[in-house]
Amino acid sequence: MKISFTTVSSEQTERFGEALSKYLEAGTVIALDGDLGAGKTCLARGIARGIGAEDPVASPTFTIVNEYSGGRLMLFHFDTYRLSGEDDFYASGLDEYFTRNGVCVIEWGRVIEGALPENTMKMKISGNGDERRFDVTGSGSVGAENVIRAATEAGCTIL
Ligand SMILES: Nc1ncnc2c1ncn2[C@@H]1O[C@H](COP(=O)(O)OP(=O)(O)OP(=O)(O)O)[C@@H](O)[C@H]1O
Ligand SMILES: [Mg+2]
Repeated sequence: MKISFTTVSSEQTERFGEALSKYLEAGTVIALDGDLGAGKTCLARGIARGIGAEDPVASPTFTIVNEYSGGRLMLFHFDTYRLSGEDDFYASGLDEYFTRNGVCVIEWGRVIEGALPENTMKMKISGNGDERRFDVTGSGSVGAENVIRAATEAGCTIL
């Protein structure tokens, strides 16, 4: 499956994240890819807002993961840019987060591609200026219809 849509501002990308958050459940893993400045953190911020947890609590490995509590679900926000790969991820014990009953949002998911659970939702962000294209391959536990629903709610253009 593949779903593609565009946003025209960082606010709209956040709104999409916020809308998407309604369809997330404990155990959902979302892998985000796209160049530096693509909008991965922007999307994660929207998800955090939607879940109702805005202030991250530093985790023991805070340079890679930030933990957000206090919302509807726990949110674990990863940035794996600085990891050298899956071995590094496992060696740091980070796969433990997959079993912690929260939502995992992973920036630079491709760095740990082989460690991602089978039903990971994968999203690639591209584009420049203020427009971003989102290509969703694999909707995981969220379901394709809910991804489209969230994009529509946020006023995104479905391609
Ligand atoms: N439609 C859009 N969606 C998201 N961000 C946008 C959009 N248009 C412009 N931007 C800008 O692009 C930048 C996205 O930054 P962000 O930190 O989210 O990127 P990132 O993918 O997390 O980068 P990094 O790989 O460095 O972590 C922000 O400066 C934001 O204002
Ligand atoms: Mg980022």
